[in-house]
Amino acid sequence: MPNEVIHAGDQAVPRHIAIVMDGNGRWAQKRGLPRTAGHKVGCEVLRTLIKYCKKIGVEYVTVYAFSTENWKRSADEVSTIMGLLKRYFKEAIDSLEDEGIRLRVLGDLRRLSPELQALAHKTDEISDHICGTQVNICVNYGGRDEIVHAASAFAAKCAAGEAKPEDLTEQLFHSYLYSAGIPDPDLVIRPSGEQRISNFLLWQSAYAEYYFTDTLWPDFTPAVLDEAIAAYHGRNRRFGGV
Ligand code: IPE
Ligand code: IPE
Ligand code: MG
Repeated sequence: MPNEVIHAGDQAVPRHIAIVMDGNGRWAQKRGLPRTAGHKVGCEVLRTLIKYCKKIGVEYVTVYAFSTENWKRSADEVSTIMGLLKRYFKEAIDSLEDEGIRLRVLGDLRRLSPELQALAHKTDEISDHICGTQVNICVNYGGRDEIVHAASAFAAKCAAGEAKPEDLTEQLFHSYLYSAGIPDPDLVIRPSGEQRISNFLLWQSAYAEYYFTDTLWPDFTPAVLDEAIAAYHGRNRRFGGV
């Protein structure tokens, strides 16, 4: 069934929305709970937001779940996040087809447990047959890591005589990124009051509109997303033109 596309005035929703799911730890600490409690609620919020994005006709939703720098956290916190991802992917495997959601995992998966890697490959496989909103979950993802990985893959092709350095274009380079085939984000949202991008989609966000909000991710609702989209509609995207 096609998505019901809701237009605000005569403006369609952004085609691709990316979100840094930040603020889980502070949300929990404010309530005297362990940081991990915030990650659990954050996971539920993600489920709700994905359903809402599909309903309003967003084609691509990319969320930052775990960065290449997040391994610096305590073993307990890291293992809780990995456990939540495992549960998320397992549930996704059973529900993606019914919900009409494609799921991709972006990042360097080699550092993840074999079980998590297998689940990520399985969701990929299932998603191949699904046509609908595409959700990209960034796990062990870093924008710099992604660019280095792409440069190294292209250099390897050149060394093998399968590519020529002078043939490299922005478009070709994109095909080596984890996000190959995915259009650039139109709107990047960072909750939690931080005004930085923390290594998220560095290449892809060249002309994205940014929206910062103090709302912590576990408090994020469809209404906050609506506010971000309304702000996006007020922007004048020039892409270097006039
Ligand atoms: C985002 O929330 C989740 C991850 C980075 C994995 P945080 O855990 O960073 O929450 P704060 O920023 O400490 O509040
Ligand atoms: C960015 O949040 C990563 C994710 C939300 C997954 P961080 O909490 O890791 O970012 P910093 O440390 O505040 O820059
Ligand atoms: Mg944080």
